Amino acid sequence: VSQQECASREEDTAGTPPDASTDVTPDVTSDVTQPAVKLALLDQRLLPGETREVLLEDARGVATAITDMVVRGAPAIGIAAAYGVALEAFVINREGGDWQSRLASACDVLAASRPTAVNLFWALDRMRKVIAAHATRSQPPYEALLKEAVRIHEQDLDDNLRMAEFGAQVIAASLAQGETRCEAMTHCNTGALATGGHGTALGVIRTAYAQGILGRVHVNETRPWWQGSRLTAWELVQEKIPARLAVEGAASLIMQQGARTPEGVRWLIVGADRIAANGDTANKIGTFSLAVQARAHGIKVMVVAPLATFDGTLASGADIPIETRDAAELREAGGRQIAPQDIDVFNPVFDVTPHEYIDAIVTEHGVVESPDSDSVGALLGRAMRR
Ligand code: MRU
Repeated sequence: VSQQECASREEDTAGTPPDASTDVTPDVTSDVTQPAVKLALLDQRLLPGETREVLLEDARGVATAITDMVVRGAPAIGIAAAYGVALEAFVINREGGDWQSRLASACDVLAASRPTAVNLFWALDRMRKVIAAHATRSQPPYEALLKEAVRIHEQDLDDNLRMAEFGAQVIAASLAQGETRCEAMTHCNTGALATGGHGTALGVIRTAYAQGILGRVHVNETRPWWQGSRLTAWELVQEKIPARLAVEGAASLIMQQGARTPEGVRWLIVGADRIAANGDTANKIGTFSLAVQARAHGIKVMVVAPLATFDGTLASGADIPIETRDAAELREAGGRQIAPQDIDVFNPVFDVTPHEYIDAIVTEHGVVESPDSDSVGALLGRAMRR
């Protein structure tokens, strides 16, 4: 498995991108005698040591996989949830019952799987619209739901490829006189594993490296779940993109050294889980402190996210729900106890970077420089009119 392998085997899904995050094996002529439809997810908890798939058969299974981090990353969570609704429709089609109420509760279960990434709720809204459009049918609209899930999946890959070009242009335009390339730092995992393929921030990094304007990537470990060392480093090594891993505590030192060096770190490039109407951005815990450090060292901050990550209903980041996870994630590592069992633990897994610390938000609809309510509002308005 070179990236997330995706081989959708049903005719309707023949165009599904090869490196996206899911694998469905649907049977659209199913009845009780037909085998169950399954969703295969690469188990990200086991990477980089082991590549093993988890096979899921219903929405509840997909919701648990999202909660337990089998699949993670804002766009990938949305895509997986959309497939979860489609899976449930296949189950209901085989078993019978009140399909509308069963699908409604499946959507609710999926919506409760993780709170911060708005892509989850965005994808479920799209699936709910398909359900509503078929309300008069006696059978669940499983084919239409599968098609919509595949559309969400494919759209995410297209969006990533567009964002990657825009982001690379921003990097190229920022190079100083005589500079042909620079280095970047990234946090968490925003690559093919976290999306429908290519990646958001890591997509920009991949494209900028291919264009020769990015020399090396500094990867933060991203404690406590090590999305940086386990997943981003894994993707970069496979892509043969020069990368160096460090604890996030080394970020200021790396930035300080890089700011003095020709071709040193010029950009902190990150993804997002939810962006408020004024550009305040929720992303993996530690992003805010990295943005403050970047500002202190004259390094620019780029957020890369599709419009599905924007939450126009929130005026600022203050109201973005921040997920806190189990204390065991800090008290144990690799099955070994690394903190006293009785120590009080605070384990927030996202923080919010105020828009003042962000130099550019790159979306599939273009780039917003120095984001604020006006510029983000203009972007969202433009995108709606398209
Ligand atoms: O807790 P995770 O691993 O789901 O957090 C993921 C991140 O914070 C990513 O940076 C974000 O989802 C952007 S992914 C393209």
